[in-house]
Amino acid sequence: MRTDYCGQVNEAHIDREVVVYGWVHRRRDHGGVIFIDLRDRSGMLQVVYDPDKPEIFRLAEQVRNEFVLKVRGKVRQRPQGTTNPNLPTGMIEVLGLELEIVNPAETPPFVLDDDTVSEELRLRYRYLDLRRPEMLERLQLRSRITNMLRHFLEEHGFIEVETPMLTRATPEGARDYLVPSRTHDGSFFALPQSPQLFKQLLMVSGVDRYFQVVRCFRDEDLRADRQPEFTQLDIETSFIDEEEIMRMMEEMIRKVFAQALEEPLHDPFPRMSYDEAMQRYGSDKPDLRIPLELVDVGDVMTDVDFKVFSGPAKDPQGRVAALRIPNGNELTRKEIDDYTKYVGIYGAKGLAYIKVNEWAKKREGLQSPILKFLPDASIDAIMQRTGAQDGDLIFFGADKTRIVNEALGALRVKLGHDKGLVERGWKPLWVVDFPMFEWDEGEKRWVALHHPFTSPKEEHLALLESDPGACYSRAYDLVLNGTEVGGGSMRIYRPHIQKKVLEHLGINDEEARDKFGFLLDALKYGCPPHGGIAFGLDRLVMLMTGAQSIRDVMAFPKTQTAGCLLTQAPSPVSEKQLRELHIRLRNSGKTTSNQTIPENSDK
Ligand code: AMO
Ligand code: AMP
Repeated sequence: MRTDYCGQVNEAHIDREVVVYGWVHRRRDHGGVIFIDLRDRSGMLQVVYDPDKPEIFRLAEQVRNEFVLKVRGKVRQRPQGTTNPNLPTGMIEVLGLELEIVNPAETPPFVLDDDTVSEELRLRYRYLDLRRPEMLERLQLRSRITNMLRHFLEEHGFIEVETPMLTRATPEGARDYLVPSRTHDGSFFALPQSPQLFKQLLMVSGVDRYFQVVRCFRDEDLRADRQPEFTQLDIETSFIDEEEIMRMMEEMIRKVFAQALEEPLHDPFPRMSYDEAMQRYGSDKPDLRIPLELVDVGDVMTDVDFKVFSGPAKDPQGRVAALRIPNGNELTRKEIDDYTKYVGIYGAKGLAYIKVNEWAKKREGLQSPILKFLPDASIDAIMQRTGAQDGDLIFFGADKTRIVNEALGALRVKLGHDKGLVERGWKPLWVVDFPMFEWDEGEKRWVALHHPFTSPKEEHLALLESDPGACYSRAYDLVLNGTEVGGGSMRIYRPHIQKKVLEHLGINDEEARDKFGFLLDALKYGCPPHGGIAFGLDRLVMLMTGAQSIRDVMAFPKTQTAGCLLTQAPSPVSEKQLRELHIRLRNSGKTTSNQTIPENSDK
C-alpha cells in the first residue's frame, strides 16, 4: 500500500522505492517521456515514465487530468536545470516502475487552478474545487485551529456540552430559520441563532465552565463575512467577571496565533470604549491598521451659511465630521465623484471636501466648493484639528450621527485600501462600554445593542428607569483587523432586573413569559453570576488563513442568496410531506406545478 504522501517525498528518499496515490494534476508528453504531476492533499510530486517499458508507457499515455493513480517508482534527483526550488518536492522526481489507473475521471468542468473560473461553477462542483491545494490547506488549518482552541479550553476546565438544534426562537436579532413540526399541528421549531439561553441554563445547572463548537443559523443579508449557517466557539463561565473572561480569552487567541501562525499578538490587547470607537472611526469594529480618523467639527459649523453643515451641527442627533486623507490632493474629480457615490450607499447625501494646496496662503491656498460658506475661524479649526498638510484632502460628512458614522467609517476603510495605507500585521482590540440600548428610529423603540440578557453596569442600574439611553452594559467585543471575531457579556442573573430590561425593550410580561418563561423561571432557582462570549470560528479562520471570504474557509458554503449550488437546496417538497406538516403553500397555482414535486415522485 501507500508508503508516502506525494508532498512528503524529498531528497532523503533518493534511491528509495515509494508507493504513492493521488490525482493527476497535469500530464505532459516531452519527446517520448511522459511527466505526470501527481497531487494529494499534502502536495505535488513529479512522476516520469520512460518508453523503455512499453506496456506501462502505453498506460501512462491514457492518463488524463484528475484520474486517480497508484504509482510505484524510484526516487531520483532531478536532472540539472529541471529542478524547481519553489516546490517542496522540486529537487526530486519519481521514475515510474508501475502504474495503476485506480479510477479514471471524466474531463472536469473546469481546470482546477484556472482563477478565471466563476465561483458559481466552483460551488456547483465544490468537491472538485476543494481539491485545490489552497482549499485543502485552509481546511487543514481550520481543523488545527479548532483543535488548539478545544485543547486550551479543556486545559482550563471547560467542558463541551451539546445543545439542541430544534429549539425555540433565540433573540440575536436576525430572522429565524423555522422547521415545521409534524406532531404539533401549526407549530414550528426555530434553529438556534446561538445557544445563548441554553448556555445560561447550564450555568444555573452548575456546569461552571461550558464551551461548544456549534452551528448557528441566521436568516439575514449575506456578506463576505456572513453566512446563514456558521460556527461559533461558544463559551460561558460562572463566578468570574468580565476582566477575568477577557484575560483568559485573549490568552487563548494569543496562544492559537502563536501555535498556528507563529505570529505574536500584542499583550495585553488594547481596549477602547464603544463611544470612542464611534467618535474616532465611525465604527464599533475599527480596523486599527488604517491610520485615518474622523474628527468632529460640528461646534465650528453651527453658524455657517451652509445648511448642509449648520443643520446637523445644531441637531443633538446630528454630527459634522472631517476625515483627512494624506496626499489626497491627487484625487481626481472622477475619483471624488466615485467616493461620493460610495458614501451614498450609506445614506450620505454628499461628500464635501477641501483640497489643501498651500496652507501658507490661507484661504487662497485651499480649493473647495464649500469654501465660500466657511468663515476663517471655521477653516482654521478644521485645519488645526485634522492636522492637514499641504497636499492633503479633507472629506466631510454632515447628517444624522448614524449616517455620518456609517458613511465616513466605510469611506475610511475603503480609502485605506485604495491608497495602500493598510499597515501589515495584526491589530486586535477589545471594544467595551457599550450602551445597553439603541433607539430604533424606524420602530420608535429601544432595542438591545447586544442581546436582552446582557447585564447593565451595576452603577447604571438606576438609569434603567430614568435614562435608558445613558445606561451602559457589561458587554465586550473582540475586533481583529476590522472584523468582529467575538462578542459577549456578563449576563443578568437576577429576575427583577431581567424583567425590567425586557420591559424597556417593549416585551411585556405576557410575551416575556411566552418567549423566555423557562429562563425567567431558572433565574429564580439560584442562578450564579455568569458571563461568556462567542467567537465566529469561520471569521477567525478566514482572517488567520488570509482568505478573502468566509466561504473560502467552509467546505460547503451557501451563495449570496442563501442557497447551496451543489445540492440545489433549498428545494421543493412533495404534497405528501407538506400535508404531513399541516402546511399549504400560498400562491398555490404556481406551487403545485413549479415549487412542489408531484406526489408520485416522492422517494
Ligand atoms: P454574536 O451575535 O455577536 O453573539 O455572535 C458571535 C460571533 O459570531 C460571529 N457571527 C457570524 N459569523 C458568520 N456569519 C454570521 N452570520 C455571523 N453572525 C455572527 C461573529 C460574532 O462576533 N450569544 C451571543 C454571544 C454571547 O453573548 O456570548 C452571540 O451569538 O464573529
Ligand atoms: P451642494 O450644495 O448640494 O452643491 O453641495 C456642496 C458640497 O457639499 C458638495 O461637495 C456635496 O457633495 C457636499 N454635500 C452635500 N450634502 C452633504 C452632506 N450631507 N455631508 C457632506 N457633504 C455634503
